[in-house]
Amino acid sequence: MDLHEVNQNDVVVSEALLQRWEARGISRRDFLAFCSATAAALALPLSFVPRIAEALEDARLPVIWLEFQSCTGDTEALLRANQPAVAEIILDAISLEYAETIMAAAGHQAEEAKNQAVEKYKGKYLAIVEGSIPTGDGGVYCTIGGESALDIVRRVCGNAAATIAVGNCATFGGIPKAAPNPTGALSVQQAVPGATVLNLPGCPVNATNLTATIVHFLTFGRLPATDRLGRPLFAHGKRIHDNCERRSHFDAGQYAETFGDSGHRQGWCLYKLGCKGPETFHNCPTVRYNEGTSWPVMAGHGCIGCSEPEFWDSMTPFYRRLPQVPGFGVEMTADKIGLGLAVGTAAAFAVHGVASAFRKGDAMESDKVKKEE
Ligand code: SF4
Ligand code: F3S
Repeated sequence: MDLHEVNQNDVVVSEALLQRWEARGISRRDFLAFCSATAAALALPLSFVPRIAEALEDARLPVIWLEFQSCTGDTEALLRANQPAVAEIILDAISLEYAETIMAAAGHQAEEAKNQAVEKYKGKYLAIVEGSIPTGDGGVYCTIGGESALDIVRRVCGNAAATIAVGNCATFGGIPKAAPNPTGALSVQQAVPGATVLNLPGCPVNATNLTATIVHFLTFGRLPATDRLGRPLFAHGKRIHDNCERRSHFDAGQYAETFGDSGHRQGWCLYKLGCKGPETFHNCPTVRYNEGTSWPVMAGHGCIGCSEPEFWDSMTPFYRRLPQVPGFGVEMTADKIGLGLAVGTAAAFAVHGVASAFRKGDAMESDKVKKEE
């Protein structure tokens, strides 16, 4: 077999396979870069690259993409990739049977395509759901082809091999479910309690995490391992705060006080500007958005916790530190914060900030932090 070296570790992919991708308009460089980046995102060694390449080659996984109460940001996140090869490879590896935003068919013809796909691929297709499901007033707030969103999601996800809920609206209800939740919005897991649902939250979903999840399903025949909220551990196993590039400033007690001040311009910690990174579990600092270009904290804006449940209620006001809650005296571990969610940060940080300031012998800074907290 004619083999192609991917890297110096002698990871090899069939030359014939690479040529077939080139014939489809994907250069071998782009294809190998995609396979390597996906392995890295899934925390797999590069030795898995050939297996991923073969899984992509043989796949034509039927996919039904549903959209309900959402802004279409998750579809856009996948399709508006700066590197077209990413979207092209993943769209080539699946057979997209239904996706309102991009399919050529419309109206009854489109609905017929969806219904036929459910019947033809029963138990074998992947359902991807974007948006929350309204259930108030008999489901009148979202109907498609005369069928309520609730009936559609139960039928489509109930007959799927697995479902991936993408974006905060589908995973946790998002802004439609925020108080007072006028449409009676539910997440996919709530709407279809018996279905196999993996949650990929974010506002929007990170396209790298979505493609990595699909590739994992293609390669291993199952969804990746998840945390207690149904989120894949490869993407949501670590706190933003623990991988943040501004963390050294947090440890040194150096905080931006206002947007545009000298601390902000020097890249200091954004905690005092409302950053929710200490309570948010997502791989934004390492994977970033737009093919690794940037992420909110790198761009100078605090994390607003968009991968956490009910973040519109629990993480607001976005530009204010969370209210001080008694009971916490030291920095929390990731596990404790994950269970407690949105409480205790201000108190924990007050102490941590003071300790950091004393460590560097800056009595004035510590007095300032104490006073403000
Ligand atoms: Fe980064 Fe926010 Fe943590 Fe500061 S509080 S280190 S900006 S995640
Ligand atoms: Fe969302 Fe925070 Fe990442 S706002 S995109 S989880 S940095």
